[in-house]
Amino acid sequence: MKVLITAGPTVEPIDPVRYLTNRSSGKMGYALAAAAAKRGHSVLLISGPTSLEIPEGVDYLPIESAADMYQAVESQIGRHEIAIFAAAVADYTPAEVAGQKLKKTGDEMTLTLKRTKDILGSAREVMNFKGTLVGFAAETENILENARGKCLRKGCDLVVANDVSRQDIGFDSSENEVTLVYPERSEALPQDSKEHLAYHLMEVIEDVKAPH
Ligand code: CTP
Repeated sequence: MKVLITAGPTVEPIDPVRYLTNRSSGKMGYALAAAAAKRGHSVLLISGPTSLEIPEGVDYLPIESAADMYQAVESQIGRHEIAIFAAAVADYTPAEVAGQKLKKTGDEMTLTLKRTKDILGSAREVMNFKGTLVGFAAETENILENARGKCLRKGCDLVVANDVSRQDIGFDSSENEVTLVYPERSEALPQDSKEHLAYHLMEVIEDVKAPH
């Protein structure tokens, strides 16, 4: 099958030398891309900047900002049967990008931000995607409730939820512990390496029947 995966952070420029970004190593998304390729799928990885190597046998489309990622997904998603959104996309971006380096002035400065477009939330209604849609939810509280809300609101078949308040897993760690949240049920998986988890997640995702 053809699988599209978003991964990594996005980078939102403030001026030529500064930017806003999200905390994301990209490890989970890259592990999923590697696992999907190993399982014989044709994989397109759309990724913000990371320090990771591009997995073997994966088509790679590098992007920087949330707007770039939106455009890349919009132009590619129609060719795919499965779309997995593992990227940590910035929810806000500077309202204006300064053409020149901003100089220090007073003791405080205010930066005005504007909302970015929700890429996952646009997949069904705006991009008309009919395949299997998988989102991620990084939560610090009410994990199941928040993840189920995201699943239903964004038209996902599955949301992979993790508790980012835990120090021992997630973010830069090579291990993760996730709960699979479907529209009607959920299933907690044991803690495992991101590689093993990715392989198992791909098996699960292949079996999700998208009724769209
Ligand atoms: N996502 C996306 N585009 C955005 C923001 C998020 O595609 N602009 C995707 C992420 O890749 C991830 C999921 O949406 O799969 C995470 O959603 P999140 O931003 O946490 O959801 P929200 O509903 O915006 O919730 P919150 O209120 O927690 O910000």
